[in-house]
Amino acid sequence: MVHSRSGDTRRYADAVDLQTSSPPEVRDVIAGMRHRRTVRTGFRSVAADPGVVRQIVEAGMLAPSAKNSQPWRLHVVSDRSLLEQLAALVRQGDRREQYVPHDPRTGRPHAYQSTVEGSAAIVESVSFAVLVENVGPLSGGTGAVLAATPEALAPSLFGYGEEWFAIGACVQNMWLAAVSFGMEAAFLADVTIAETEWRSILGFEGDLIGALAVGFSDDAPGPKCDEPFAPTMDRVVWHTSEG
Ligand SMILES: Cc1cc2nc3c(=O)[nH]c(=O)nc-3n(C[C@H](O)[C@H](O)[C@H](O)COP(=O)(O)O)c2cc1C
Repeated sequence: MVHSRSGDTRRYADAVDLQTSSPPEVRDVIAGMRHRRTVRTGFRSVAADPGVVRQIVEAGMLAPSAKNSQPWRLHVVSDRSLLEQLAALVRQGDRREQYVPHDPRTGRPHAYQSTVEGSAAIVESVSFAVLVENVGPLSGGTGAVLAATPEALAPSLFGYGEEWFAIGACVQNMWLAAVSFGMEAAFLADVTIAETEWRSILGFEGDLIGALAVGFSDDAPGPKCDEPFAPTMDRVVWHTSEG
């Protein structure tokens, strides 16, 4: 079942009609979601209009957050030499090959190839990057969570997770706004390999979550999925009262 804003209940099949009959600006939002892709190559060396950059950043600030805590601080970098400097620091990161998510049950890295080098190449080729800092209004940040007593850890992780969740929404808002302005982007968590150095260059103390690298690319791929509501996806389980 799908509940519409007006409160009536519709079957799954009707939900598709609901989408096509919604106002054009709302349909554009969904089109933007379908066209948002991670783009890593083909960036033109052109500057973005400062007014457009501002609107993209403001879209990020519209994101929801737990207790309206707005855990993000956004560092907008469009200076080319600074972007190159930041990229160089990522390339110099220690143990680059092992910089992939680790499994806490084994302490071992998951079996992914490192993408640190590729991420550095993106940072130095885009028009601007928005570095996302978590100022930790609920958790106090990674340092405080790591120092928590065993009793305090689980409830602290709750707030910490909520901060990350809100930052994800903030990044997605900026990404979709960039797409709406005809730009392409990649979100890069790998850049955190240079967290200490980036902090010191940009003068912040919170946790570096990643960077949204944005520019104009000639390599934009097509939309991700032709059938976003395909009910066969194993990541969606429908609990409906009708068959
Ligand atoms: C939290 C997060 C971290 C990511 N980190 C990186 C990264 O460090 N380097 C990179 O090249 N791509 C990174 N990506 C991009 C993903 O690889 C990409 O979103 C995924 O392959 C799906 O492709 P799509 O964005 O085109 O849908 C990241 C994406 C997310 C959401």
